[in-house]
Amino acid sequence: MSHQTVIILDFGGQYNQLIARRVRECGVYCEVRPYTTPLADLRAMNPIGIIFTGGPNSVYLETSPRVDPEIFTWGVPILGICYGCQLMAHALGGRVVAATEDSAREYGKTETYFDTACRLFKGLPAQGITWMSHGDYMEKVPQGFALTARSDACPNVAIADEARGFYGVQYHPEVNHTQHGTDMIRNFLYEVCGAAGDWSMSGYKETAIRRLRERIGAGKVLLALSGGVDSSVAAALLAEAVGKQLTCVFVDHGLMRLNEGDEVESAFAPWDINFVRVDAEHRFLVRLAGEAEPERKRKIIGEEFIRVFEEEARKVGAVDFLAQGTIYPDVIESGAGDAAVIKSHHNVGGLPDCVDFKEIVEPLRLLFKDEVRALGRELGLPEYLVSRQPFPGPGLAIRIIGDVTKEKADTLREADFIFREEISKAGIDKNLNQYFAVLTNTRSVGVMGDGRTYDYTLALRAVTTADFMTADWARIPYEVLDRISIRIVNEVQGINRIVYDITSKPPATIEWE
Ligand code: XMP
Repeated sequence: MSHQTVIILDFGGQYNQLIARRVRECGVYCEVRPYTTPLADLRAMNPIGIIFTGGPNSVYLETSPRVDPEIFTWGVPILGICYGCQLMAHALGGRVVAATEDSAREYGKTETYFDTACRLFKGLPAQGITWMSHGDYMEKVPQGFALTARSDACPNVAIADEARGFYGVQYHPEVNHTQHGTDMIRNFLYEVCGAAGDWSMSGYKETAIRRLRERIGAGKVLLALSGGVDSSVAAALLAEAVGKQLTCVFVDHGLMRLNEGDEVESAFAPWDINFVRVDAEHRFLVRLAGEAEPERKRKIIGEEFIRVFEEEARKVGAVDFLAQGTIYPDVIESGAGDAAVIKSHHNVGGLPDCVDFKEIVEPLRLLFKDEVRALGRELGLPEYLVSRQPFPGPGLAIRIIGDVTKEKADTLREADFIFREEISKAGIDKNLNQYFAVLTNTRSVGVMGDGRTYDYTLALRAVTTADFMTADWARIPYEVLDRISIRIVNEVQGINRIVYDITSKPPATIEWE
């Protein structure tokens, strides 16, 4: 299927994929291309519009990224954002200088006044907050351009040459802090570029499948499937694209939630792929026996996982491609430098050095989480897989405080299942971003049926969070907590006391280990 295309020309800004995401949200297909892409290649894409992104440079430096001025002669509308705006101004005869006065440098939320006669701001309020991040200043705007937005500090926050369809904004319309920012991008697409809105997730799916087929050819692909949203969606996409050439290896380490292994397996039953479920519970439990230290537990699981995976990879043999469910936030986070290690996350992503693969395939690399979920739905994955909460790679091992045994894992599985069932019966599952039970290693005295008990304390954890970096404990209604507590102590042997974790992150973390 062919669709209209917008090119996002990348000058190294940090929000470039966010711009792409906004364009997709507006129902328009787009591709991010480096600014060094030859003009002929860009032209061959037959774009209906081009967006110049921000970037860390100053346009007046000799070494800064440039565009071939011919791009301005095509008759294709251009929206320049931040550096992109200054670049356009500079290239078309304006003058950009370093802001000497502090007042002309703008960072953060800025009250801005718009000329709503400009097509970019059509139908939007004449005043609102924009998110600025620029140290340079357009001292002189190019001929043919009008000033279409200003702030208290700066008279030329936005410029427009309506006749040629050139627009520039000094702020970032793509970030959430800019009020109506997406509407401005939508106006550019629909009012200026004449977008038809002919793109949807099903279009993305088709394009992604076609590209995977082109890239993989007749090669073999191996994917470590954890049952989480990302690897499941990657698996479904690859299954559609290359069918039997794909082998999904699902390592069941025996520390999954109740029924989870079966659910994952049955979700992939409709596809004609090679699905290998490795029952590795015993070997994981043997290696974990007697280990109580959280970091050691994580390391052991990570290592053992790789070992099992490698064994399976060798059995499949001659695999050309290793597929991973990396999504865009992972790409950003992995560039985060040397932040302190709070927990060494075991992720099936970091696989493995020792098995030879020619290439890594990451078909979700440019998508945000909610887009991945939408793609999963489009591919026909069941809702419980697509909308599931995150589940850590080491599984219940980091929710069993102290040493891990099969008995403890079974106890926790049952209790955790009841907790999740009651949350969903109460209809509050959509309000919680993550919720689970933790088996503490504290035992206490209780009384049941006139007899003394000396059993484990179970902790319930439920949080709300946007990004899992910070989180607040969820205010679950007392009646719901009461029902959960009664059911668990009655139905699960070995637990006689329930506590609810009322700590936010920070200072706590979401998981207990
Ligand atoms: P914390 O406990 O660090 O967790 O606040 C933040 C989020 O990360 C998940 N988590 C993990 N995910 N491997 C994963 O794939 C891990 O080792 C791991 N440890 C924590 C956690 O469930 C929460 O969503």
